[in-house]
Amino acid sequence: MPNSVLVIGGAGYIGSVCVEQLLDAGHAVTVFDNLSEGHRAAVDSRAPFFEGDLADLESIARALCESRAEAVVHFAANTLVGESMTHPGKYFRNNVANGLNLLEATMAAGVRKFVFSSTCAIFGPPERLPMTEDLPQQPINPYGESKLMFERMLRWFGDVHGLEYVAFRYFNAAGATTQCGEHHRIETHLIPNVLKVALKQKPNCEIFGTDYPTPDGTCIRDYIHVTDIAQAHVLALTPGKQGFYNLGNGEGYSVREVIAACERVCGGTIPTVTKPRRPGDPPRLVASAQKAATELGWRPRFPTLDEMVSTAWEWHRSHPLGYELLSTTKARAA
Ligand code: UFG
Repeated sequence: MPNSVLVIGGAGYIGSVCVEQLLDAGHAVTVFDNLSEGHRAAVDSRAPFFEGDLADLESIARALCESRAEAVVHFAANTLVGESMTHPGKYFRNNVANGLNLLEATMAAGVRKFVFSSTCAIFGPPERLPMTEDLPQQPINPYGESKLMFERMLRWFGDVHGLEYVAFRYFNAAGATTQCGEHHRIETHLIPNVLKVALKQKPNCEIFGTDYPTPDGTCIRDYIHVTDIAQAHVLALTPGKQGFYNLGNGEGYSVREVIAACERVCGGTIPTVTKPRRPGDPPRLVASAQKAATELGWRPRFPTLDEMVSTAWEWHRSHPLGYELLSTTKARAA
């Protein structure tokens, strides 16, 4: 088992939870993040922190060397479907070109284990549900395309250089731990936006598209608790594990069903307004995570939507401004 893990993007939502769980599992963890999306206050105080950018090969090399990394876990990316439809270049530069810097620096440092955050967006609208790993990969947005390109680079680095890799195609991450939750500077995700309405920080929740070919006309997604995603990363570090895995719960919920779950958990009505479809959104995405269960022994511990929404709600209530105040306090103390 690698003991020393360099987590790239460990100040972001999923990365910060993974850092917590890797530390709890006994790994020595170092975090590398450019803080463009992540938050310094989200980084577990047990982990040394390097502020650096994947565009800068030297800073990656330094972090790999000083952390004595035996494995790299890579979360850093731009991840918004909608934004990728207006700024595709940003996605190819950060997720592909800068990702390649990381892969090459990893090889140069002699590290031979790599775990990558991919996405179900690599598939595009699936021809059947639930989605298994062997479905055709035809992304319908630059975000999914950029992640697919990185997956392909990984496979070649595995074949040619002997890199042992695991890539997880997450479906929709949700939920929080006591310390770490979802705070994007510009929030576009459904659950945090609904919870902002419950916290009275927004007047209503927008529903993007009510004319999809689904029972209630809104998009269907498979939500997965962020700690269950993190646990998969802990398992992936086991020597000999390699491959591409879908991660979800195998249950789809529509936008309206998610809003209803938030109403149950928060105890009130969430006002909504209907808006046109958001470009790049596939109507229905539901995972089969059978391969991860069979090959990695992965079992989700928080599979229900209400558990995800409840933990998210607890975190948002205790962090009504996300990490904003905490980051200011930490910056002053430094
Ligand atoms: N939605 C709304 N209103 C909102 C926000 C979202 O109706 O205020 C809808 C979206 O149109 C979509 C669904 O809710 O139909 C889920 O949207 P999110 O923005 O929460 O999540 P996405 O499915 O677009 O994308 C997320 C991650 C991606 C990942 C993908 C996998 O951002 O990185 O899940 O499905 F690839």
